[in-house]
Amino acid sequence: MILSEYQHNVAQAVDRYLVEVIEHLPSHAPHLKEAMRYALLIGGKRMRPFLTLATGEMLGLSSSDLIGPAAAIEAIHAYSLIHDDLPAMDDDDLRRGHPTCHIKFDEATAILAGDALQTLAFEILCHCNLSKQTQNTRIDLIRILSSAAGYSGMCGGQAMDLAATNHIIDQAQLESLHSKKTGALISACVTMAITLAGNVSEAHSQNLQRYAQFIGLAFQVQDDILDVVSDSATLGKPQGSDQALNKSTYPALLGLEQAKAYLHDLHQQALQALHALPYNTQMLESFTDFIIQRKY
Ligand code: IPE
Ligand code: IPE
Ligand code: MG
Ligand code: MG
Ligand code: MG
Repeated sequence: MILSEYQHNVAQAVDRYLVEVIEHLPSHAPHLKEAMRYALLIGGKRMRPFLTLATGEMLGLSSSDLIGPAAAIEAIHAYSLIHDDLPAMDDDDLRRGHPTCHIKFDEATAILAGDALQTLAFEILCHCNLSKQTQNTRIDLIRILSSAAGYSGMCGGQAMDLAATNHIIDQAQLESLHSKKTGALISACVTMAITLAGNVSEAHSQNLQRYAQFIGLAFQVQDDILDVVSDSATLGKPQGSDQALNKSTYPALLGLEQAKAYLHDLHQQALQALHALPYNTQMLESFTDFIIQRKY
């Protein structure tokens, strides 16, 4: 199957799952529920669900064991974007080609929608269907996602991002920042798939996790590059936001050409990590190309 077809299938399946989850929420706070639906379902490339499904299926899992964890990670991602766009953070007004959650609704509702989507992710992990073979991984899945989302991962990285705004940091610090704010959730997709599979050798697991670290970093480097070279209509979010806020990014630190060269290195390293594996890595290879070629 080609990448775009697989991407389409994953997006459809995860959206169907998330629509169902939202629809099953009781209706005592309709405004909040609408904001959650808006932030979750108004668009998005669904790259984290893709990575979860593609890695898991490569390891022999069936999609029914992967869709719950994939939906959970997408709920965390949607929450992270709502809060990232808030006036207290990046103060952006456009996301996925639409007004950001706090513009469409209001700031308090956006904060609560983020909070509720975060906890929804863990409700999904607690309740999602898992087969007999994978049921015993549920606590591990919760452990992996909570640590990737919190202080050790995305939230910690966002705090480092804020601390590095209007400051110059070195490349090692920037790598640590990016690996946490964006890389941790991307790594969690792969780690959850490995955990569900249960039979991956230590050496192969380490290679897959190295792969995830390279693409997680590459993903944010490309995000930083697109902020410079693209336009808001293509991105669906405000171009130039990083420069306007004086953020620490790869183009800001290294210059655009060096940032592109670094992205190329990460791409090669990611592919090398895949080549060392005994699985059919074709879909993950295409995904690796997609990450650095993507236009939004
Ligand atoms: C944007 O993530 C935020 C970053 C971590 C760079 P995506 O580019 O995956 O955003 P959507 O989900 O497709 O909108
Ligand atoms: C945010 O990075 C990463 C998150 C944890 C949400 P950015 O601030 O660069 O993401 P965009 O460019 O607004 O999507
Ligand atoms: Mg940000
Ligand atoms: Mg932002
Ligand atoms: Mg960005």
